[in-house]
Amino acid sequence: MIELKVSVPGGTYPVKIEAGLLPRVGGLVESVHEGRRGLVVMDQNIQSPHGETLLSGFDSQWTLATDGLIATEANKKQEAVSGLHQSCLEAGLDRGSLVVGFGGGITGDVAGFAAASFLRGIALVLVPTTLLAMVDAAVGGKTGVNLPLPGGKGLGKNLAGAFWQPKAVLVDPLVLHTLPVRDLRCGLAECIKHGFIGDPGLFEFIDSNRQAILAADPAVITTLVERALRVKISVIEQDEREAGGRAALNLGHTFGHVVESVEALDLRHGEAVAIGMVAAAQCAHEIGRVGKEVVDQARDIVVSVGLPATLPSPVDVNALVAAMQFDKKTLDGQLRLVLPGQDGVDIVEDVPTEAVKAAWRTVGAGD
Ligand SMILES: NC(=O)c1ccc[n+]([C@@H]2O[C@H](COP(=O)([O-])OP(=O)(O)OC[C@H]3O[C@@H](n4cnc5c(N)ncnc54)[C@H](O)[C@@H]3O)[C@@H](O)[C@H]2O)c1
Repeated sequence: MIELKVSVPGGTYPVKIEAGLLPRVGGLVESVHEGRRGLVVMDQNIQSPHGETLLSGFDSQWTLATDGLIATEANKKQEAVSGLHQSCLEAGLDRGSLVVGFGGGITGDVAGFAAASFLRGIALVLVPTTLLAMVDAAVGGKTGVNLPLPGGKGLGKNLAGAFWQPKAVLVDPLVLHTLPVRDLRCGLAECIKHGFIGDPGLFEFIDSNRQAILAADPAVITTLVERALRVKISVIEQDEREAGGRAALNLGHTFGHVVESVEALDLRHGEAVAIGMVAAAQCAHEIGRVGKEVVDQARDIVVSVGLPATLPSPVDVNALVAAMQFDKKTLDGQLRLVLPGQDGVDIVEDVPTEAVKAAWRTVGAGD
């Protein structure tokens, strides 16, 4: 078993990675948490292939309730959290109880926010079941939901939430055998992002192991998750609450969140991030931070794993620029972008609107 440690000001917690770990989750939870009462929040799509296996590992001392969650961005909302609070009450959870989030990034974010806010915060363990959640969402303590934007302008991503670190993150790469390949690719988008932030060797690893990754080969996935997580962990250990450096993890997200919110485009989070990384690279090139080869590198790696590098259909560039103001990094109305540079990525302020528009046009926005 691979065990990584995440050390943040509130304490240290383990990330355990092992193929076949799922039936032992109950015992592993007991090594980090004393209580024996909990609510398992389970993505409805994985209840049947994996739910029984997970629950089988909790012995008879446990009083566990389960609640299914519809894992869509539209359902990643306050009402879903309220529903989980109600389930916590009905299950008799108290301050010594636990929420287990079993699913992808949506399940983890919603279950995490419910745990962070029920009785002002109870213990949380995450068992991620998508590649994206394994390499990114489950680690680092960000929880939250989307909010409807004023004027009916779609959903604002992750605009309500809390920092709430899990007690442990338990990763079983075997669960990825049931994950559609489209979602595996989405996880690769966040791995590519981590490559740009702190491990360029990840590009080479992804390139040489592309087939095995897309076939969910457990040994290759284990290495991929470990490498990608090492980048994420080093970033959050330096800046748990995004006072500075953690914003690097938003590479591609300011552009990406905007197109993810356009329902007609039907883009998953990872797909939107892939397009967003290409746009961010172009934007960095427009203002002289990187050469054209960085834009080409971003596009090549994204396309090589089957992720989109352009919008599936054109969207008006001015509407896209206007929607960027709802990004969480915006301060005093000033847009702040995470852009690649000569050495990793940085937050850049005062990016000229023309450079942002040129970046959008590169990924297929129209006038
Ligand atoms: N908290 C963070 O730090 C953080 C970081 C990155 C992304 N996110 C969030 O994560 C979300 C995206 O996460 P995601 O890509 O995991 O999406 P997701 O949770 O929607 O899962 C993708 C799809 O796969 C299904 N699924 C999950 N596991 C499965 C399995 N093992 N087998 C078969 N189907 C399975 C789900 O039902 C869903 O249809 C976004 O909302 C994003 O904002 C959060």
